[in-house]
Amino acid sequence: MPRLNASGRQLRKEDRITMDLELNQAQRQARDTARRFARDRLAAVAIETDRTHRYPAEIVAELGELGMMGVFVPERWGGAGFDNVSYALVVEELSVACAATGTIVSAHSSLATWPILGLGTDTQRDRFVAKMASGKSIGCFCLTEPQAGSDAAAQKTRAVRDGDSYVLNGTKNFITNGPQASVAITFAVTDPSKGHRGLSAFIVDTSSPGWQVTRTEDKMGIHGAHSAQISLSDLRVPRANLLCEEGDGFKVAMKTLDGGRIGIAAQGVGIGRAALEDSLKYAGERTAFGGPIARHQAIQFKLADMAVDIDAARLLTLRAAALKDAGMPCTRESAMAKLFAAESAMRAATQAIQVHGGYGYTKEFKVERYFRDAKITEIYEGTSEVQRIVIANYLVGNR
Ligand code: CAA
Repeated sequence: MPRLNASGRQLRKEDRITMDLELNQAQRQARDTARRFARDRLAAVAIETDRTHRYPAEIVAELGELGMMGVFVPERWGGAGFDNVSYALVVEELSVACAATGTIVSAHSSLATWPILGLGTDTQRDRFVAKMASGKSIGCFCLTEPQAGSDAAAQKTRAVRDGDSYVLNGTKNFITNGPQASVAITFAVTDPSKGHRGLSAFIVDTSSPGWQVTRTEDKMGIHGAHSAQISLSDLRVPRANLLCEEGDGFKVAMKTLDGGRIGIAAQGVGIGRAALEDSLKYAGERTAFGGPIARHQAIQFKLADMAVDIDAARLLTLRAAALKDAGMPCTRESAMAKLFAAESAMRAATQAIQVHGGYGYTKEFKVERYFRDAKITEIYEGTSEVQRIVIANYLVGNR
């Protein structure tokens, strides 16, 4: 039988590509370590932090000891030395137990550590990355402003050169890890006449005078991960802390978000899995019309849809991560993964509540938390609408 390609044409020898869906030993090790920690340690803490809104500092410290605050950081800079596929698997596992912890780890790793590791100089890596990889120093990403969310180029924060430093003034919004961070990747306008090409990126030491957390948001979900408003007032940043060149800030932000969206996609997969696992358990125990509700097709169809969504979302996520590991562009693929995984997580959480019926609407079961936590994955690090813009740009030839 001839082998055919997707358009029905017979495959030539040179057309054949191999695709290895097996995880390697290191990837399995990273995933299994995270899975054990999530099950044995994190799951119980997740319930408490959701209720009290407490930042789980002890969990972050333990994750640091396990190497999970620097999964993809090479050992040379104090990290675990795994790849981005391992990182996605770790965020997924942690998010099954606690999406808020998934957020803390993802914002710290993808948005704060990666830009220094991937785009910084060796001196900057030496100064910042090792402490971040151990979790002793937490990172945040200060891009969003009160009037600059989806339109990330519409920044108002100013950075004015003064001798060997820059002086920053402005306000940043919804900054994950803002209250805990000691390192902040911060964006500011250095040349207002140049639009997005007039933005620059800085590595800010949050102990500098002028850094102030002015508000912590009271959010619908991911309660253990704190989102803050930050005021920057005559904050002085040494020129040595400029990330890339003056004017490169917008590209630094976009390249960073390419990786960040892989982390959020993995978080969506984790939330979806939690929704399915709890639904399977409940459907096996709850009886109606003479047997467990899992025997009813109305419930089985929901479970089947969740399972397909989760697998598809994970495949998209790991494809984006594998491209990043190969040093290839992954803008389109990470947007696709984030879009699909976020919307899958939302669908799974909605259906999980439906499977649980009235109990699903109470705080006695965890599915209502999954629903609240899933929603943010459709919003932060680029809304679903922004992901569609990014993907469509490739389809219609703008990229
Ligand atoms: N990599 C490298 N360069 C990129 C790029 C990428 N992925 N995407 C765009 N660029 C470049 C373009 O090539 C273009 O370069 P030139 O200057 O050479 O022309 C430049 O950037 C401008 O590109 P666009 O014209 O496409 O930019 P835009 O202004 O139309 O914006 C957008 C596009 C996709 C909507 C972008 O603004 C965006 O992603 N918005 C959402 C921002 C976002 O995700 N914010 C979340 C913040 S973090 C968070 O939520 C969590 C937290 O903890 C704070």
